[in-house]
Amino acid sequence: MDDSDDERLVSNETGNNEEASIEKSLRPATLDQYIGQDRVKHELSVYIQATKQREESLDHVLLYGPPGLGKTTLAMVIANEMAVHIRTTSGPAIEKPGDLVALLNELQPGDILFIDEIHRLPKIVEEMLYSAMEDFFVDIVVGQGPTAHPIHFPLPPFTLIGATTRAGLLSAPLRDRFGIVAHMSYYTIDDLTEIVKRSADIFNTKITDKGAHELARRSRGTPRIANRLLKRVRDFMEVSDKHAIDDEIVAKSLRFLRVDEEGLDEIDNKILKTMVEYYHGGPVGLGTIAANIGEESDTIAEMYEPYLMQIGYLNRTPRGRVVTEKGYEHLGLSAPQSD
Ligand SMILES: Nc1ncnc2c1ncn2[C@@H]1O[C@H](COP(=O)(O)OP(=O)(O)OP(=O)(O)O)[C@@H](O)[C@H]1O
Ligand SMILES: [Mg+2]
Repeated sequence: MDDSDDERLVSNETGNNEEASIEKSLRPATLDQYIGQDRVKHELSVYIQATKQREESLDHVLLYGPPGLGKTTLAMVIANEMAVHIRTTSGPAIEKPGDLVALLNELQPGDILFIDEIHRLPKIVEEMLYSAMEDFFVDIVVGQGPTAHPIHFPLPPFTLIGATTRAGLLSAPLRDRFGIVAHMSYYTIDDLTEIVKRSADIFNTKITDKGAHELARRSRGTPRIANRLLKRVRDFMEVSDKHAIDDEIVAKSLRFLRVDEEGLDEIDNKILKTMVEYYHGGPVGLGTIAANIGEESDTIAEMYEPYLMQIGYLNRTPRGRVVTEKGYEHLGLSAPQSD
């Protein structure tokens, strides 16, 4: 690996504290400010309005989709629109049933519990969630051996918002308990252009229409990446003799940052190249690709593969991943003739 995670531009993880606080400042607070994902937004606005009229708690919401598409942001927006408190935690952070009970115990009626990476909840905690979600109670066993007995613990009506990058890893009983399931998809270039302009505004940075469009086009459909690239490109603009980010500065700085014409980074390209050079373009298993390029299988499955599939460079077949004709073209090669 030649890049550390923090340095990796197109990666989807929030690198450090500074970036986390910048992300916070860029977060839209209301559904109106939340750009794109129109279907999800429309659906949610109907449920939110109806729920408020009935003075009930919002049905449980499952948000799923690739990293950096705004799941955490949307959870915060929902809390804001519902005017309720939100408690944030993550699957791996809830190690035992007691941890969950402690969290649930703090909720006021109508409050939201947000569990990020919900596919990583320990089984025993997940099972406890079933009754909590369905009927607002948990049964806790106290004592040990012959004196062990369950205590019935009623909960206030609350809303669970779960976020996951891997809906396929969620068990059916858990998935079925979410009344609202929202699939987040990659953003269009138009939506990303708007996001870039909004962020530039917050940064007090000028950007031309063409500059915003070029940046949006190369952000892998992902707001987090768009914002990250914007920040870097702004640095390039500030040390140049220009006063606004234009398409030329974007193109120049992205070349320097080794983000290619389509917004793919070195790892994206390494995945495609490895498959073509060593495996005739596939089919090849995920684990094999991962071992070859020195990345985790999970990282490839969550961050790289979905976008490569979305733009039609990679296909998943029962026998493994294959590079498409378009993928070959991207590498400047022609696909081998199939017989
Ligand atoms: N619809 C949007 N409009 C404007 N900005 C957005 C939108 N969605 C996301 N962003 C910005 O993108 C950044 C990443 O969003 P967020 O942290 O919510 O993603 P996520 O889906 O929770 O990612 P992960 O799966 O890694 O937790 C935030 O800084 C946010 O400001
Ligand atoms: Mg998140």
